[in-house]
Order: sequence, then structure tokens, then C-alpha cells
Amino acid sequence: MLRPPFMAKLTVNDLNLQGKRVFTRVDYNVPMEKTGSAMVINDDTRIRATLPTLIALIEKGARIVLASHLGRPKGERVASMSLRPVADKLAELLGQPVAFADDCVGEIAQVAINNLQNGEMLLLENVRYHSCEEANGSDFAEQLAANVDVFVNDAFGAAHRAHASTAGIAEVITARGGQCAAGLLMERELQFLGEELDAPDKPFVVILGGAKVSDKIKVIDRLIEKADTILIGGAMAYTFKLALGKSVGNSLVEPDKVDIAQAALDKAAERGVEFLLPNDNLISQMNDGAWANPVLNSAEDIPDGREGVDIGPATAARYAEAITGAKTILWNGPMGIFEDARFAKGTMAVAVAVAAATGAGAVSIIGGGDSVKALNQNGLAGQVTFMSTGGGASLEFLEGNELPGVAALSEK
Ligand code: 3PG
Repeated sequence: MLRPPFMAKLTVNDLNLQGKRVFTRVDYNVPMEKTGSAMVINDDTRIRATLPTLIALIEKGARIVLASHLGRPKGERVASMSLRPVADKLAELLGQPVAFADDCVGEIAQVAINNLQNGEMLLLENVRYHSCEEANGSDFAEQLAANVDVFVNDAFGAAHRAHASTAGIAEVITARGGQCAAGLLMERELQFLGEELDAPDKPFVVILGGAKVSDKIKVIDRLIEKADTILIGGAMAYTFKLALGKSVGNSLVEPDKVDIAQAALDKAAERGVEFLLPNDNLISQMNDGAWANPVLNSAEDIPDGREGVDIGPATAARYAEAITGAKTILWNGPMGIFEDARFAKGTMAVAVAVAAATGAGAVSIIGGGDSVKALNQNGLAGQVTFMSTGGGASLEFLEGNELPGVAALSEK
């Protein structure tokens, strides 16, 4: 369903929470790695991003009951997907104890919630240890809501899921006459990915990369209606090249998506939107599972047996020039296989140009996932206006879809 124009939802700031038990859905689906016998958090960005909401809740004297999913345990208690290490990390970041309950429903949860004093915090175990979470079972939503008064959703990254802890619980609490509000992270995500991009200051430059046209075509289609310039990188550029009759060698392409790529090119041309594709590339070939012989290809066509793995320096310079002078920038997706340092220059050039344009006054919005990783990798994360914590949720929202986790919240 297409989302309505930005609608003001109730936020944490609107609520009186003194002594209230607040079920706070967060997205602590963070990357973890087994180190010895312990699971160690590799990237705590999503945890840090919720701190403003948690501090506001503490200051308001709420009794905070945090809930999240981690991974996809499909209704099983998978030990490596326990949220326990997250409780420890959160306590460290906040400088106050965070209790942990070994289950998100039933007596274990009830006892832990009853033990909370005003301003104290508890993290419940992975909601996806119960299969009813993803099935959005109404009994399960009732159980989640059983010991709380208010629902706060700060889990933008999971807001595209109509699950019991993101949507079902809101229905239960609303039906009881309770309040369901956005957390401060959720509010910022909706402000930047929604409000700012619905009516962007011009020129509006959109940079899209990544592997597949099919993943981004709905976003491209919608943004052609708003953008002045669209810059395309990553493997999806080769499907557009194919549509223009160019040879792409062995590059990753979606031949069955050539028609939709052509339709996007036509729509951009009709609307006078500048739609730029790479005109030089770094090309390489896979030998025994490793990239070999990377060379610059300055021709429009890529020779057989070679794959495009990054945009070339001429394209990077052209893209940087287009980014300079933008008033609003949206960036989603890398320009090449940036995880390999040899193929990271194009993505890095874009990151540097976006940071510089931001320094010159542009609003820059980073649509989550790999672009965030690239900025972190280059130490430029602090030099953009906003980095989304969503992956799939950001894309769905940018497509213009209404997110169930947002739709369920109370209007102001
Ligand atoms: C994400 O990492 O994109 C969110 O936490 C959603 O996770 P999911 O795709 O498993 O629902």
C-alpha cells in the first residue's frame, strides 16, 4: 500500500511516562561473530542509534522493557542468536545496568518487568524464538502486551515487517485505549527518508548502486519524479548498459530486466532528469575464486571474459562534479565491489564528494546498508547529515510504501 504524505505520529516527546511500563521495540539485529565460546558484536551502530530514545525514556521515569529480534531463528531457541550480549553492550554504552529476561513472554518476562523501578531498563530475549512473532499471532501480541502500558517503536529497520512485536502489539494497546508512539530514531528516519525527500531542496541528486536493478527499480521509478540527477553505479549499471545496446562482457546483469531499465531511461528522458551511467570502468576476471588482472577500461563496451567491478576515474570525477552543488543528496548502494580495496576507489570518491557537499550545506541522506559501511570504512560517517539504520525497510519506505510498524502508531 502506498503511504500517505508524511503524517505526524505521536513521539516519545509527547508522552507522560512517569512510572509507566513502556514496551520499546528496537532493532538490535546486529552483526555478531563467535569468538571463543562468546558471541561478540561486530558493529554496534544500531544499538547506539537508540540511545537518544532510551535516555529520553529514562529521564521521563519510564520502566523500560526493550524487545528485539536477532537473526532468523524461526521459532527455535538458537543460542548464537541470543540477545544477552546486547544487554551487556547496552549497559556499557549507557553506564547503567540493563537487566535481561530469558524469555519475552510468560512468567519470566512478567517477573522481570515487575522488578523494574522508574528509569530502569530490561532487555527481553529474542522475540523470534517464538514462531508466533513472525506470524503476528494475536494471542502472542496479547502476551507481549500483558505487562506493559505504552508501546514505543524505535525499530525502523524492522518496521516493514507486520510482526507481533512491531504491529500486533500496537493494535492490542490501541484497542485498550493506550498510546503507541514513535521513538526518536524512528522519528528521524521518517523525517529524513520521508519528509525531506518528499519535498527536497533542489538540485536533488540521487546516487544508486548495488548489484541488482530489480532491487531498486521501484525506488528509481519514484525518484525520477523528484530528482534532478540520478547517478548509477555498481553492477546494476550493466543492465542499463545492456538496454542501451552496449556489450558488458561477463558483468553481473539481469537480462530479463532490460525492459524495465529501458522504461526508467525513457521516463528520465521525458522528465528531463539527467540519468548518468558509468563511461569507464575497472574490469577484472575471476580466476580460481579470486579477482585477477584488474585494469581500467575506458571504452563504453566491456570485453568478453571481463567483469566490471568498479566505476573508473573519469566516471568518478563526473559523478563527484554532479554531487558538488547539490542541495539534497540521497545515496544508496556502492559503486563497485568496495569490500576489495582494489575496487573501492569509485565508492570512496562518491563518499568524499557527498561529505564535501554536506560541508557546503547540502542535506545528505544515506539509505542504509553498504553505503553506511563504506562511509564508516572511510571515516566519513560523521560528515553526512543522516545515515539510515534500515536495510530492507529503507528501500520499502523509499519506494513509497506504508510500513506496518509505522502505520500502527497513534496519530498526534
Ligand atoms: C534488517 O536487518 O534488515 C532488519 O533487522 C530486518 O531483519 P529481517 O530481514 O530478518 O526481518
